Amino acid sequence: MLILGLNMFHADASAAIILDGEIKFAVAEERLNRRKHFGGFPGLAVKACLDAVGAKISDIDHVAVGQDSEANLAKKVQYALANPAKILNFIRLRQRKEAVRDVRSLLARALEVDSAQLRFQEHHLEHHIAHIASAYYCSPWDKAAGFSYDGSGDFVSTMTARCEGNEIEVLDRVFLPHSLGSVYTMICEFIGYTQYGDEGKVMGLAPYGKDTYCGEIAKIVKPESAGFKLDLGYFKPLGSNQGMQVLPDGTVRLARHFSARMEKLFGDPRRPHTEITQREMDLAFALQQRFEEIFFHLANRLHERVQLDDLALAGGCALNSVANGKLFDRTPFRRTYIQPAAGDEGLAIGAALHTYHSFLKQPRRHELKSSYLGPEFSESRIQSALQNAGLQFRRFERVALLDAVSEQIAAGNVVGWFQGRMEWGPRALGNRSIVAHPGLPDMKDVLNARIKHREWFRPFAPSILAEYQHEYFEHDHPSPFMLHVYKIRPEKRKALCAVNHVDDTGRLQTVAREENPMYYDLIAAFQRKTGSPVVLNTSFNENEPIVCTPEEAVDCFRRTRMDVLAIGPFLVVKPTTEKEDTLRAFSPGKRQGS
Ligand SMILES: [Fe+2]
Repeated sequence: MLILGLNMFHADASAAIILDGEIKFAVAEERLNRRKHFGGFPGLAVKACLDAVGAKISDIDHVAVGQDSEANLAKKVQYALANPAKILNFIRLRQRKEAVRDVRSLLARALEVDSAQLRFQEHHLEHHIAHIASAYYCSPWDKAAGFSYDGSGDFVSTMTARCEGNEIEVLDRVFLPHSLGSVYTMICEFIGYTQYGDEGKVMGLAPYGKDTYCGEIAKIVKPESAGFKLDLGYFKPLGSNQGMQVLPDGTVRLARHFSARMEKLFGDPRRPHTEITQREMDLAFALQQRFEEIFFHLANRLHERVQLDDLALAGGCALNSVANGKLFDRTPFRRTYIQPAAGDEGLAIGAALHTYHSFLKQPRRHELKSSYLGPEFSESRIQSALQNAGLQFRRFERVALLDAVSEQIAAGNVVGWFQGRMEWGPRALGNRSIVAHPGLPDMKDVLNARIKHREWFRPFAPSILAEYQHEYFEHDHPSPFMLHVYKIRPEKRKALCAVNHVDDTGRLQTVAREENPMYYDLIAAFQRKTGSPVVLNTSFNENEPIVCTPEEAVDCFRRTRMDVLAIGPFLVVKPTTEKEDTLRAFSPGKRQGS
């Protein structure tokens, strides 16, 4: 049975295909059309899904969409009536949603077939149920607590559930305008991060702040027995577009969230690309602290209700790896499962798996242990990309390649590492990664100056061989998808200085050999040379979606100051003179925001 899952006309549009309950392929449209957070129809992703399993759209049995415009309709109408200025907007959005529901025509048009050939059944699933399904049905558990939170989806910002067997029983919903994700977005905008998806940057800024505004920020969102409540005086009314607009070309825009009260309290908002002051750091600190307090309040309450120690966690806010890392200290939960695409691209697999298990009552069988669900490319395609770019390269056997690449990393060079299938979700996890030495004090500045151009306050992440996690980190719950931040043990901080954040933490990826033997063996080869079972891992890109194809990797290698490219079995080393020019041109980044 073939099921196609879709997230469409929503940020991070994506498609996934499952065959008899197993996820065969999944990809976000942004990786294919190269437009970050693209929110239109994922036509290229659908084609890639079909190609991956050798199917035609007419072979698909079910299409599942992680969005249901009929869900929570009474709440939407109630909100629109209470905000008369937004009623026209509400009606417009309803009309657009009707068009969105015509999945058959959309797919027929995208794949240039007659819609009469399409025999699939169509399913629409509420946004947060699809989020929870994406975590629970990928987890190894037969029962678990389910929790999803984000800015909004189908007029809900937070959902809790009891998951058992093939059922997800919804316990609570928090409806808009009350949204923890909106609080995060609002303060991010106020401190100058105004683009969709900027929240992760501000999470990195928080540890530089002090407890100056915690009292003030705590007034914005307050816990309640059934959830939490915002003081709406700090927010502009968001209307029925829920604070986010997807333009007809698929661009995702954020509306301004903060009201004049924020300016009265904290002064002028910081303009993007200007200097970051202590005020912004202190606001980020207070925001992260309040976010965690509310999250732990909700999680503790959920634990009381379900009395289970396993938590299937999802939604855009589940990408807050700092909060995830503290969960085991602040709640009774003992294990979490967060699938690698916890944000909205993950809705595609959630909708598909929910259709398979809950609607069609098919047995559970698939635990998602690795994120490598995207496209892969043949050796001949990679070779052509290198030849067409006019690069000098050598082909190596596996062991020799690992030896040569680990030697380059040990020598302090920056390596583009492109192997196998692309990762599903926002993190590069060793197949589309830039890899470097984690113990060189200037490596963070080198990477920023030469390739990444990221804000000075954002840390780089460590990938660690799974069996060494407890030696280097204070928690041993695994983090295979780089979704937990833990304290680094004091005696290891120097050895990990390039990935040790200002608060002595690291957002680690634990690498088990059965999940990615090639990447594991690379780190093991590096360990034999240096004694360190850890490498620095950052995504293979430069202010763009992570590279997908060999051509994009080669292009990124050529236009940045990466030293080495290891792509499939081939190795390219930039001439020494070019590297030396780069080093001469290098000067550590100024303390300035983006
Ligand atoms: Fe979401």
